[in-house]
Amino acid sequence: MALKLAVLVSGGGSNLQSIIDRIEDGALDAEIKLVLSNKPDAYGLTRAEKHGLPSVALDHTAYESREAFDAAMVEKINACGADIVVLAGFMRLLTSVFINAFKTIVNIHPALLPSFAGCHGQRDAADYGVKISGATVHFVDEIMDHGPVIVQAAVPVLSGEDGDALGARILEFEHRIYPQALQWLAEGRVTVKDRHVFVADAGKPKAPITKPGLVNPPLEEGF
Ligand code: GAR
Repeated sequence: MALKLAVLVSGGGSNLQSIIDRIEDGALDAEIKLVLSNKPDAYGLTRAEKHGLPSVALDHTAYESREAFDAAMVEKINACGADIVVLAGFMRLLTSVFINAFKTIVNIHPALLPSFAGCHGQRDAADYGVKISGATVHFVDEIMDHGPVIVQAAVPVLSGEDGDALGARILEFEHRIYPQALQWLAEGRVTVKDRHVFVADAGKPKAPITKPGLVNPPLEEGF
């Protein structure tokens, strides 16, 4: 049965688009029950509309506290019947009101966690001068950018590259690893023990991996 998703965005929604595309081409067995944005003008909402997906904007500035905003989101998400909450460029800190309301929340971050957590992972990595950065899909817990890692893509930093250029190349990998991680979840292949994530039968890549870069666990056909 298709995995039911509530996808949360704050901006452009290119990760949302990659999820929509993989659902539409049949690689990802999922259904988007709701796209929710804390920014009424987020282009992610337009993407949802273009694909006939249910969407809602809850402007966080209209709420008196983070907890009140989170409670409003919880209500909307519970009403849509999603199995899992997918943070896709959702740029608000979440309180325990939200974290404790759902069994499974996942996030994508544009750096190799635990390095360069926060709102500017790409820029911080480029400014620091690391030679390899990348992207991380992880479960969300009560600490920001901290939960168990499902999959990471390593992306070499090019000489003289700034955060924007690096971020654009990382984004290409984000668009592949996030739908792949969701498909593993849809297939019920993911287990977590002592913050180690195991993907059953992972390790035999069926799809060529874009160069330069490395994805672990390897991508499978369609991603
Ligand atoms: C993505 O790079 C995502 O990893 C990042 O925001 C961007 C959203 O792009 N998220 C974070 O930095 C979370 N800490 P998108 O709206 O085009 O998907």
